[in-house]
Amino acid sequence: MKRAAIITSSDSGYRGEREDLSGPVIREILEANGYSVVSAILLPDDRQMLSDAMAEIADQNKAELIVTTGGTGFSPRDCMPEATKAVTERDVPGIPEAMRAYSAQFTKRAMLSRAAAGIRKRTLIVNLPGSPKAVRECLEFIISELEHGIEILTGEASNCARK
Ligand code: MTE
Repeated sequence: MKRAAIITSSDSGYRGEREDLSGPVIREILEANGYSVVSAILLPDDRQMLSDAMAEIADQNKAELIVTTGGTGFSPRDCMPEATKAVTERDVPGIPEAMRAYSAQFTKRAMLSRAAAGIRKRTLIVNLPGSPKAVRECLEFIISELEHGIEILTGEASNCARK
């Protein structure tokens, strides 16, 4: 079974002032698609803390997939893409490109998401926007294709036979 970790970035959530509604949506969708959720953490919008959490999961081989939510917008504290790019060794631009293109049908503000995706060791890291609505729209769209990428990454599949 593929293992996944969830990281929510939210200053107000971390202070206990706002309930994290997006993390649970990610968990629901991951579990419905056969992933075992090995951890779900809530952190402030702190670049170093976010990077450290991602690196630890990847370096200790705790999960093949890390899905993050929040911190992809323009607010001065939003730093999830920077935290992700600081620890990924290889960029995977197609995933956020596809999310933004698909999401434009729901809101043109999808173009304001700075979400990134990349690979560290044997772990794929994907940023989602912050709202539960955006999380559902984006993750349900991409999830079917992540598995193949993870299989290639971990050596379980060797070719890219087209569907
Ligand atoms: N993508 C989808 N699918 N649905 C949405 O409602 N909201 C957008 C965008 N992407 C949205 C979306 C908005 S309004 C913003 S500001 C950015 O994601 C960044 O969100 P974040 O700051 O919560 O990470």
